[in-house]
Amino acid sequence: RRRIPSYNTIEQFVETLEKAQNVLVLTGAGISTSLGIPDFRSSQGFYSQLEHLGLTDPQEVFDIDFFREDPSIFYSIAKMILPPDHSFTPMHGFIKLLEQKGKLLRNYTQNIDNLEANAGISTEKVVQCHGSFASATCVTCGYKTPGENLYADIRSSRVPICPLCSKKRAEIMKALEAEDGPMSYVPYAESYGVMKPDITFFGEALPSRFKNCIREDMSKCDLLICVGTSLKVAPVSEVVNLIPSHVPQVLINKYPVKHYEFDVSILGFCDPVIAHICNKLGWSIEHEDYERIRND
Ligand code: OAD
Repeated sequence: RRRIPSYNTIEQFVETLEKAQNVLVLTGAGISTSLGIPDFRSSQGFYSQLEHLGLTDPQEVFDIDFFREDPSIFYSIAKMILPPDHSFTPMHGFIKLLEQKGKLLRNYTQNIDNLEANAGISTEKVVQCHGSFASATCVTCGYKTPGENLYADIRSSRVPICPLCSKKRAEIMKALEAEDGPMSYVPYAESYGVMKPDITFFGEALPSRFKNCIREDMSKCDLLICVGTSLKVAPVSEVVNLIPSHVPQVLINKYPVKHYEFDVSILGFCDPVIAHICNKLGWSIEHEDYERIRND
């Protein structure tokens, strides 16, 4: 889809932001990297650190069929993306500021780190498009538990097992080892009774909240800001096309995203970029690093 950009300077973005009442912020892994959480596709990103697994494609660690066949692969690396406890970045703080100013229509995040909650952004203002570590479900019986209950296992690279399915799982594993009896033919036996964080894997449907919210939000949005995302994963990347073409679209990212036409692409690290924008607006983000970043 070709758009005719309506403006092209940072000053015009600042003006639009000042007037906007329904800002849709679409975020990706790049907004959490300043806390040391890797993004996915950069040269130092998460996928580049998985070569030792010998996968055809590193994205297979998030493939649901792959997980069902052998969950131990995901749990051998899951600790690398476990979210930090209480922290959030100035960029998350900016999204909270938009909410406080009554300007935030919604934050669609592809991130599974749940840092939006740490920043205090209201849950109704956030759509966790790919789910998060905040909760977990047994792949066999559907038993649910807070995600934190899996953290000890994840940190030790152990596969977390559902308390309701553990007895039956032990029987299946025994039969598998002995390679006899009907139990050894249970489909996806390796993942029987395994707990999985409520992260959307490739091959799984996105949370229904994504579809419900975007249907409601696309016509209300008067400014789209995409931050820290390569926009390579659909359907979230399609949000850019769903917003009416007259609505200004701004990208804040380390590198250009060439497969969409933004009115303004502000290239750089998002924390100092957003501090610069806030300076121009006379706004201030509540974050311990904000003064330092602002004066850099
Ligand atoms: P990517 O790793 O594909 O893109 C992150 C983008 O952020 C890259 O373009 C980086 O250059 C940029 N970036 C990194 N640090 C930045 C910073 N400090 N400031 C500004 N930009 C920065 O990550 P996503 O687009 O989020 O799925 O990936 C989308 C989905 O792919 C993820 O949700 C994940 C993955 O498979 C699941 O977790 C299920």
